[in-house]
Amino acid sequence: MYQQFYQRFLTANKGKQHFACHSHHYWPDVSRDAMLEYWDDSARLVDDKWHYIFSEKVPQTQQLIADILQLPQPEQIVFAPNTHELVMRLLSCFDLRQPLRILTTDSEFHSFSRQVKRLSEYDNVVVDIVAVEPFASFEQRFAQAAAAQDYQLIFCSQVFFNSGFAIADLPAFVASLDSVSDAMIAIDGYHGFMALPTDLSTITERIFYLAGSYKYAGGGEGCCFMSVPLGSIHRPLYTGWFAEFGTLAAEKSAKVLYSEDGYRFAGATMDFSALYRLNAVLRLFKQQGISVGRIHQYVQQLQQVFLHKLSELQHRQLGLANLLAHDLKQHGHFLTFRLGSPSEVAELAAQLKRAGIETDYRGDRLRFGFALYHNSAEYDLSCLQG
Ligand SMILES: Cc1ncc(COP(=O)(O)O)c(C=O)c1O
Repeated sequence: MYQQFYQRFLTANKGKQHFACHSHHYWPDVSRDAMLEYWDDSARLVDDKWHYIFSEKVPQTQQLIADILQLPQPEQIVFAPNTHELVMRLLSCFDLRQPLRILTTDSEFHSFSRQVKRLSEYDNVVVDIVAVEPFASFEQRFAQAAAAQDYQLIFCSQVFFNSGFAIADLPAFVASLDSVSDAMIAIDGYHGFMALPTDLSTITERIFYLAGSYKYAGGGEGCCFMSVPLGSIHRPLYTGWFAEFGTLAAEKSAKVLYSEDGYRFAGATMDFSALYRLNAVLRLFKQQGISVGRIHQYVQQLQQVFLHKLSELQHRQLGLANLLAHDLKQHGHFLTFRLGSPSEVAELAAQLKRAGIETDYRGDRLRFGFALYHNSAEYDLSCLQG
């Protein structure tokens, strides 16, 4: 039903079953037209393209994202080529000559975890890490930890990349942190955006929410974004000239001035073709009435069918016992199986690949992702038959 929007990627990958969508989604066909549109706009407008991009494309894309996440102030959304750049900008809000205490989990993506690990080599930086497992008690344990120390930054995922486990009620989770801490709270929403229905309206003034187009939005790499709390007066040290938009900088100030909206967290010149792609995909979904709720429902059905087919096979490694997070109601769009060792996982992934089944794995975990461009009637797992 939805496959019609993905004809080019599907045709280019005929014969493959793509279960790595949680890593790299196929791109809808409209994104190809968007690439050409970017080229044509560049040729047509040359230097004037920046005015066009910032007065048309950026506000339009901010609005599309704001509608999806129920953010009341679209101009609080800032774009960057990747989340790492945004993470770095958040970290640069703190005076690194002073003590800095960070609370996070053991399951954050490398763009954050690697960066703060490196930072913690400084004597004045302490990073406290809460284990996400056991899942059932995570939210409570994390809030308890937040209350136990005076933190400057709390960083946590909405859906954890290494298990698929999702925070059930993000506003309630953030409220529980807010009630015990006045730290900056940042939520990595990359595996939530365009996958799980997410309403940030009640917490928009409390959190920084980061996500991007590479995964479920199907817009490809190069367009990440962050929603910045209204009234933020942060002054990131890592700052580019885009962050000056909307200030009176032309009047020359002794101090570095920052934009009043989300763009205070901006960098500098970037390739906006990815933003064009994201814009085109989000407009397509809007025109077609494909809401995140509908996407989520469709993917949940795919996951059920997949698990049912797997259970019929009674596969030694891919049984329910090895499925990390079982509750599909509190789950992202990929299923994660934990096997005995990384080499066991690599071997199984290679066997699947030989049969045309694309997955991805990290350490001892094998991940199967699900997407709109799947048709569960086409799932063929016969290569796993004993
Ligand atoms: C949870 C999460 N955050 C962020 C990213 C992407 O990070 P970056 O945009 O810095 O490459 C990923 C990518 O796989 C991810 O899984």
